[in-house]
Amino acid sequence: MNTFRYTLGVSLLAIAASAGAASAAKLTLYCSAQEDWCQLMARSFEEATGIDVNMTRKSSGETFAQVKAEASNPKGDVWWGGTGDPHLQAAEEDLTDPYISPMRSELQDWSISQAASAGDKTIGIYSGALGYGYNTDLLAANNLPEPACWKDLLKPEYKGHVQMANPNSSGTAYTTLATMVQLFGEDEGFEFMKGLHANINQYTKSGSAPIKAAGRGETTIGIVFMHDAVAQAVSGFPIKVVAPCEGTGYEIGSMSIIKGARNLEEAHKFYDWALSADAQNLALQVKAFQVPSNVNAETSPSAPDLSSIKLIDYDFKLYGSSDERKRLLQKWDEEVSTLPQ
Ligand code: G6P
Repeated sequence: MNTFRYTLGVSLLAIAASAGAASAAKLTLYCSAQEDWCQLMARSFEEATGIDVNMTRKSSGETFAQVKAEASNPKGDVWWGGTGDPHLQAAEEDLTDPYISPMRSELQDWSISQAASAGDKTIGIYSGALGYGYNTDLLAANNLPEPACWKDLLKPEYKGHVQMANPNSSGTAYTTLATMVQLFGEDEGFEFMKGLHANINQYTKSGSAPIKAAGRGETTIGIVFMHDAVAQAVSGFPIKVVAPCEGTGYEIGSMSIIKGARNLEEAHKFYDWALSADAQNLALQVKAFQVPSNVNAETSPSAPDLSSIKLIDYDFKLYGSSDERKRLLQKWDEEVSTLPQ
């Protein structure tokens, strides 16, 4: 009798568990913003909706490659964060799905224009300007001059002192490459990348890694989005943030729904929630100092003031196009990364 009761009990539990598992709402989130922000977004959405989130953080170029590799059997539902160019490329390659969120009326124009240039397959969630930061202690210890311009970074005395990410994996580094091409023209832009290569100590996978390394004193200069450098400075590291004198490019950090998403209803819920002022205000808790796309969300006083930075008119449509992104990356692989250092 006892055995019977035990067996029955275990079976009922198993049935309940499998019924629960079958009905539990879930979402697979690919995240390309900073890790702690990705975590906070995932946990906060779970709390707000009861939907379980399975989140993976990878850099923008890496996530694009993963979404493309999985296209015949999609595993992700939403791709949140990361630079806009690979989101635009994913839209063009039909890897993502259009969606018109009811939250659109609350968004900045630049967020909507990102959607407009991609047939509504992506949307802007934040923006931020490219620049660099340097460790003031290391700069002084090495008797190095204070850099203020992009071209300063080519000086031979900075050899081995500059770090940036690899533009294939990192959206930050692709933005750097595309910025130089737009700022100086293609020939001079590539000459710049070649000169810079001579001073680079390491190409990291993730875009913000170089400024974290600078904060820890492992490199003197890190080429990153200015808000990533600000995050190190306000965390108490001796980092000075530079808006380069020639002007600079910027990103429209984006969000897309993956084509063939298995959890489409949950994906739409996340998308709408992520565009709300409340969700965007979470950024402040993790020192994510981008400019939010919801007009009612708060911009931190520590955030770089984009209106006071000399921004180029970054051509997202061109540099986010499949042909151009592939072409520039291949050219960088062949003509820059292979050069001796
Ligand atoms: C950091 C920045 C984001 C940017 C992202 C791109 O997290 O704070 O603004 O979108 O880098 O990451 P990636 O590793 O692709 O350069």
